[in-house]
Amino acid sequence: MKQSVKLIVGNWKMHGVSADVSEALALKEGLAGAPPSCRIALCPPATLTDRLRRVLADSAVEVGGQDCHEKASGAFTGSVSADMLADAGATLVILGHSERRAAFGETDADVAAKVEAAMAAGLEPIVCVGETLEQHEAGQAVAVVSAQIAGSLPDGLSERDFAVAYEPVWAIGTGLTPTLEQIAEVHAAIRTAMIQRLGEPARRAPILYGGSVKPDNAAEILAVPEVGGALVGGASLKADDFLKIVHAA
Ligand code: G3P
Repeated sequence: MKQSVKLIVGNWKMHGVSADVSEALALKEGLAGAPPSCRIALCPPATLTDRLRRVLADSAVEVGGQDCHEKASGAFTGSVSADMLADAGATLVILGHSERRAAFGETDADVAAKVEAAMAAGLEPIVCVGETLEQHEAGQAVAVVSAQIAGSLPDGLSERDFAVAYEPVWAIGTGLTPTLEQIAEVHAAIRTAMIQRLGEPARRAPILYGGSVKPDNAAEILAVPEVGGALVGGASLKADDFLKIVHAA
């Protein structure tokens, strides 16, 4: 991934049935004739991966996963592997989202194992980190994300394309965002932690911001130093909103 080109990723979470494929089509049509100057991906529920890949064929929009199992296959009822996502047309995968860490008890070590699985499958991992409201109010954001980076990025990642996403838990789906100064401070700390963990090659991986990114705040957030793109939840569900964010990049 090139640092100079913003990466805008839509995370549909557990939203989307076949009717919603029309939003992906509208996104493709909205981009037609005006090639985006950024890299764009949609991460739908796993059931829609192949559908979106086909709908978005011949467009600049990539398809990604929202999670994967750490094993390539096996007796893991209900799980989807990185190889399966790649087989369905995904090129990247979100890992360690705070909703997975909180609701499914994923640890940094679990996330690192999944990142290794993604690398083995040829997927680009987007590794999420972020502090809770309590940690934010206690002034622990930098310490929390630095520890998450140290524990969630496995050896060997420096030779691969990957991204990190800073998603303050308290900003997700709340309409709240950190100040631009806070975003700059934490992104700079994440860059330092990435370099400490993986060395100089970690400079080229983009650090996305996620948490209540909307059409009206995207431009100012994307202009913050070290913000290499956005990981967008709610505003990625409607093509009109997502297109505005893409154009802000
Ligand atoms: O992964 C994206 C996400 O957690 C942010 O969600 O709805 O606040 O944009 P939202």
